[in-house]
This record gives sequence, C-alpha cells and structure tokens, in this order.
Amino acid sequence: MNLYKLTEKVFKYSFGKPINTEAVLTKGEKVKEEPLRYFNIDSTEGMSFNYKMTKDQIVWGLGENLRGMNKRGGIYESFCSDDPRHTPDKKSLYSAHNFLVVDGEETFGVFIDYPGKVVFDVGFSEENSLVIAIEEKDVDVYIITGEKPLEIVREFLNIIGESYAPPKWAFGYQQSRWSYPNEEAVREVGDKFIENSIPCDAIYLDIDYMERFKDFTIDETAFPHFKTFTKEMKDKGFRLIPIIDAGVKIEKDYDVYEEGLEKNYFCSDAEGKPFVAAVWPGRCHFPDFLNPQVRTWFGLKYKVLTDLGIEGFWNDMNEPALFYTDRGLKDAINLAKASENRNLDIYSFFKLNDTFNNMTNSLEDYKSFYHNINGEKINHYKVHNLYGYNMTRAAGEGLSLIDSNKRFLLFSRASYIGMHRYGGIWTGDNHSWWEHLLLNIKMMPSLNMCGFLYVGADTGGFGGNVNHELITRWTQFSIFTPLFRNHAAMGTRKQEPYSFEESTINLLRSAIELRYALIPYIYSEYMKSLKNKDMYFKPLSFEYPDDFSKRVENQLLLGDSLMITPVYEENSLGRYVYLPEDMVLWKVKNYQERTYEIVKAGHHYIDVDLNEVPIFIRTDKAFVLGKHSKNVESLNNEELNVIAFVENEATYVCYDDDGATKDYKVGKHEEIIIHIKKFKDDEFTIEIESKGNTKVKTLNFEIINTDGRVHSKTLSIKP
Ligand code: NOJ
Repeated sequence: MNLYKLTEKVFKYSFGKPINTEAVLTKGEKVKEEPLRYFNIDSTEGMSFNYKMTKDQIVWGLGENLRGMNKRGGIYESFCSDDPRHTPDKKSLYSAHNFLVVDGEETFGVFIDYPGKVVFDVGFSEENSLVIAIEEKDVDVYIITGEKPLEIVREFLNIIGESYAPPKWAFGYQQSRWSYPNEEAVREVGDKFIENSIPCDAIYLDIDYMERFKDFTIDETAFPHFKTFTKEMKDKGFRLIPIIDAGVKIEKDYDVYEEGLEKNYFCSDAEGKPFVAAVWPGRCHFPDFLNPQVRTWFGLKYKVLTDLGIEGFWNDMNEPALFYTDRGLKDAINLAKASENRNLDIYSFFKLNDTFNNMTNSLEDYKSFYHNINGEKINHYKVHNLYGYNMTRAAGEGLSLIDSNKRFLLFSRASYIGMHRYGGIWTGDNHSWWEHLLLNIKMMPSLNMCGFLYVGADTGGFGGNVNHELITRWTQFSIFTPLFRNHAAMGTRKQEPYSFEESTINLLRSAIELRYALIPYIYSEYMKSLKNKDMYFKPLSFEYPDDFSKRVENQLLLGDSLMITPVYEENSLGRYVYLPEDMVLWKVKNYQERTYEIVKAGHHYIDVDLNEVPIFIRTDKAFVLGKHSKNVESLNNEELNVIAFVENEATYVCYDDDGATKDYKVGKHEEIIIHIKKFKDDEFTIEIESKGNTKVKTLNFEIINTDGRVHSKTLSIKP
C-alpha cells in the first residue's frame, strides 16, 4: 500500500495497482505509510473494508441510489445497471457513486475509487457494520477527515474538480417523450406550449429521429429538412435535444461503423474481434470510450448535429445496456426448442422463463468483452462503471473541440464520479409512482455530494400513467431541480402539461411560471455551488446543528436562503414540516401575489392545497425573484424583487454571467451584493454593491420583519 497526502484533510491509500479512473484530479505527495484510518481490512477474498458504526451514526451519500438519504439498513451495489423498475429491493441504478460520509461521534468521508463492482453493506447484514467489498485487491481508498459532513463534502468536491455548467437556457422547462416521431409532431408540441402560454425552452428527440437508430444520422422521411426545422423551432423559442446511444449499428456503408471498424475503435471479444451485442437497431459494436483516441473520434461526431443547429444532447444506454448477444439468444432458443412438447414443471418452466429474462444485461456478456487501456487488454467487467462516464467525457471533450468556448447542454444516464466535470445526469427510467417522487427528493442532495449539480428526474414519471395530482405535485417539486424535464415512455398517457384538463393545465402553468421567476436565484445558487465547491440541495442537518434536523429526509435546503417542503403523498392537502428556526412561509399560488406568514421553529402541520407551492425563507436570508417569460432567453430581469426575512441582518450575493460561454471560468461574471441590516425595531438599512456590468437596474425590496410586517422599498443600481 502507498499513502498519499492530497491536502491537510484528504489521504489516498493506494492498494495494489489500481486503474486510474481520473475521478480525482489532485495528485498529492507520497508520505510515510500508516494503516488505513477508520476501517479494518479483510483481504481473504478480494478486499473488504469494515467499520463498526455506533447506533446513531448516519451514513450519507452514494449519489444515485435507492432508499433514504441516510443509507443505513440497505445494501447497495455500484454496478451501472439498465433496470427500469426501481423497486426498494433493487441494489443498483444507472450510476456508480462510491462516496459516503459517516456522520456522528466519529465523522469522516470515504471514496472507493474502483471501477468494477463495489458492494456497500450499510448495516444490512449486521445492524452496526459498514462493510465495503470489492472482488480484487487493486483499489484507491480516499479518506476525508473533517468535523462536519458539509466540510468533508467540500473537501471531496475540491479534489474531484469543478462541476459542469450548462447554458442558462437549460434551466428552463424541457419537454420530452419517447418519441415525437416526426417534424409535425415536434412542431405541434411547440405550438401547444405557445397556444397555452406555458413557458418552455427545449423539446427532445428520442431514438426515432435517427435513421433506424443509427447515431449521428437523421431519418429524412420523418425530418426532411432538419436544419431548417431546427432553426424554425429555435426562432419560436425551442431548442431541440437529440438522444445519442452507446451502441453503433453494424451496417455496411454506415460511416460510424465503417470507421470504427477500420480504426479498431470498438471493444473486442475474447478472440480480438469487435464485440457484438444488440440494442435498439439490433446488432451493434461498442466504442471503446476508455481509449482517448476513440473519445476524440466519437466526440467529434457530434459535429454532424451541431452543424445542423443542435446545442444539446442526452447520452443514453451507456451502462452499457445489452439486450442480447448471439450466445444468450442461442442458449435461450436451444432451451426453448428442447422444451417443446415437454411437460414443464415448476423448475423447468422457470428455468426457461429466466433464461429469456436474463438474456438482457447478462453478467456473462459483460465478462466477455475487452477494452484497450494503454495497450493493455482489460476485461469490461473490471471497468464496467467507467463506460457511461467516458462516453459523456467523449461528448464533452468533442463539443469543446467543436466550439471551445460554448456551453452545450449535455447529460447522461450512466455515470461515475469524475463525469460531473463533463455533464449532468438524469435519474433514468422512474415510474409515475408517488414513491418515485419521494425518491427523487431524497436523491438530489446525495447526487450533489458526488459533484453532480445538473440533475433531475423524469418529471411525472417515465413508466406508467400519471394522474393529474401526481403530475402537479411532481412538477411543483421539479421547478427547483436544475434539470427540469418532463419525459414519458412510449405507450403511456400523454404527459405534456397541456394534455390534461384545464384546471391542471392552469396549475402546471403557474408552477412553471414560478420556476422562470426563480431563475435569477436558481442560476445564482447553481453557479455559486459550482464555483465555491458547495451543494445546491442540502439535507437540513448540513446547516443546522440540532439533533432533529438529522432525521428530516423529506425537506431540502435549496441554495443559501430557502427551504422546500414538497408534498409527495396522494390526496394529502398538507404535510408535517419541521423548522429548525423561525422562518417565513410563502405559499405560492401565483408568484406575482405574495403573502407571508411567520412560522415558529418546531413541528407543524401546514395545509398545502394542490394549487400551492410552499417555500420557506430562512432567518436572516434573502433571495431574488424575477418575472417569467416564454423562455429563458426572453427573460427580462432588469427589475428584480429581493425578498428577505430579517431578524438582524441578511446578505445575499446574486451571481450572474453570460450564461452561454465558459468565460465564467476566467472570472467574468456579475455580482450584486445586497446587505440588509435592522437598526431600529422597524427600520432597515440597505447597502448594494455591484461588481461587473450587471443588467439589473432596479431592486424592489420586500423585507419581512419578525412580526411578519413587510417593508417595501425600491432602489436603483447605479451603473
Ligand atoms: C431509455 C431511456 O432511459 C429513456 O429515457 C428513453 O426514452 C429510452 N431509452 C428510449 O430511447
């Protein structure tokens, strides 16, 4: 084992010869070896790291995963999986985020940088044992010390590098469905948003826009004038976002296939031939994204679409999903043939049944192909969790080569820590289930802990049919997630906001309008989290020290100033909330009408009608609110409202930048620093400092004092 010190608080224990995943950017210096802190190691088989938890230690983290924010009681497997039924007994979703924070009498963070399967048994087999197991002996284990979870998270975010920033328009509402099959269908979606006056920034193109599911092609029957059509839609205010899949169709004369074959860019099988498995188009090869040359080649292919006016992409099926291989299919068919005319009893019938079901994403197939890493042939199973990460890295790097200073929208289904530098993620194929709305809420801070800031779920649920109430409550939550997209599967009920009854359309419109009005705050908080290595969504206890805050998993802190308490249960006209301090409650029906109520620290039941979105303002905090418009680019935020709850004094830093280029990386941005101070019972002083060329001209203050009275004042910002 080698020990490296990365910072005063971060140590890397390097066992054997680990594969460099490039998740961590800080190198650190070699120091004298010492035993691994906190854990006992058992290396009888593979390696397992064991820690005895005390009864009240909490375990936060693991990014995209099932169950609670506190991971105790569960067993989780980091093994990127294409499994659309996220029931509570599942152990893996699409991503592998091996970072967790143990919080209690002893507090520390651990990141298992290992690209194969990692099992986290967090008090499942034994109540108080945390056991992390891998099948080999080559691994980098990072230990992050610190007093508080947030401090540890920030140390971690520091070593893994800055998160991805999408363009500002990607903070608008986005509409998707599998699929809008042709130009007319997409045009109709746009027109319906306009007719119904519902703001929207992007419309998605799922697999049917391609010619027989081939990446970087367009079905010219369905989209005969793609470039003009992209422009037509953009002129109306909508960007089109096509999907890109990991598998490349095997088809003679298809350039991506021919080039990949010629250059030896595909993953290979045991005999060195390109590995074959089927996805949407049938048999495919899989680009070896772990090879930098392949990444550059594939990444530059996105130019086919950027040349046609495309400014955003979603990368899918990159766990990678494998429907079947010839081997799997043959085994199943042979068994089926042998079963013909036989009396199948319970065992033989289920064997037949399982053989067909297990053909998809089979472990045997994942173990049967190889990558070329620096000239060395590495079995895919060992590096499985790096595939989606590197596909999206290919896209991110490619898009930077195509237009170095432009921000593109980019997000992925599968990921590993490190991918957060190139794109965001969506949480995959959830269902129109209330349980998945709650899961969506709980997952957000865990993802932020792992560097993924541009995150969101399929609002309304991907599988199954949503009803009016679930789409409303879910939309009312998703207005706060950076990625705000409604997406639904083929064959499900129409889920676009305008597809419901008038009363629901009105509720969805109000919620979406609120989102647009909140963009000055949402964008400011997002970019500050990115720059300051912070979390955008936090569990309450990451800010409040009291014991009860640690138990709250259904409320979130949103940025620096707000707490949100979404309603996630059917037929409930309210919910219990816990306030660690006095706060102001604004129940938003229509964001232009504002009434505020002081709610004292403690436990409360609050009524929340279906037409209300509860937002809490923390003590001595302020936030900004603009006005909605039909899309982000047409927002006019020359005049902003500053809403503050002031007991003593509140400071808010309102960040903004051009939202389109990477100039923020060299410090180009604007800031308005607002400072409000109470000097007599009922009087406040306001100081404003502006840095950079802010477009904001007027600030309308609504300062709420501890009696609930609102003081209004308007100030202009001097250029
Ligand atoms: C699976 C993705 O998770 C889903 O969002 C998409 O609609 C389908 N693939 C079809 O492309």
